[in-house]
Amino acid sequence: MADVRPLSDVLGAEITGIDLNTLDDAGFKIIEEALHKYLVVKIPGQSVSPENFVAFSKRFGVPEPHVIDQFHHKADPNILILSNRKDEAGTPLGLADGGTYFHSDYSYLATPARCTMLFAIEIPGGDAGTTFANQRQAYADLPDTVKAQIDGVVCRHHYGNRDVKEETARTAASLLSDDQKKKVDWVRHPLVRAHPHVGHKSLYAVSGSSYGVEGMADDEGVSLLDDLKEHSTQKQYCYTPTYAKGDVVIWDNCSLLHSAPLIDPSRPRTLWRITVKEAGPTISS
Ligand SMILES: [Fe+2]
Repeated sequence: MADVRPLSDVLGAEITGIDLNTLDDAGFKIIEEALHKYLVVKIPGQSVSPENFVAFSKRFGVPEPHVIDQFHHKADPNILILSNRKDEAGTPLGLADGGTYFHSDYSYLATPARCTMLFAIEIPGGDAGTTFANQRQAYADLPDTVKAQIDGVVCRHHYGNRDVKEETARTAASLLSDDQKKKVDWVRHPLVRAHPHVGHKSLYAVSGSSYGVEGMADDEGVSLLDDLKEHSTQKQYCYTPTYAKGDVVIWDNCSLLHSAPLIDPSRPRTLWRITVKEAGPTISS
């Protein structure tokens, strides 16, 4: 029998009594409702094949292979291998940097990510996991005057991290090849997004890919985004779940920012990641 238990006061829940290999519609509904309510869901003790992991992801929507295609899983390109391991020749076996700054996955695409899921293959002891920041609560706590100012505002997004101008810097977004760069362009998203499934409003991707605000001078827009980021990533909105081998972790990208730590290569860590897109663009044009 599935049991849902909150992990903190701000976000996150753990669901036990679920086996993703035999998940039925009722079990999926429990996971989906918990995701909409708690924004991060951890399902421990799983053992899924690439096929079953991808099949589970497709219950949420259409998975989108990551633009960094050199680390796609051989069995299925929808799985991105995140790893700090290297082979004997020193070639990385996965993407080591999962974004060490606050961002929302695929916010550089017109149809961004609905949710992202990880399956923990190997986890070093005492590992600090991804830190999540609840953008639904951060929006709810804003003064009404600020809400009135930002509701309906549109931001300009591009692959990258607004805070880092040098693309090879340590805290920049993972470097793209010239071919990969051709696949990304400027896109538009609302600064305040209503959740496509439950309607709650959230600040959307105020850190990471947001480089400007339509109708504002460049510095004015960045200043507004910086102020909102400072507000929405305060400690009271953040929670960092721990990961263990066999955990499947799913998060909602509309309502969260997240930041992943880099792990020392002497402590091997490997996860499979699938990112599922929303049903359509955030702005119909
Ligand atoms: Fe991410």
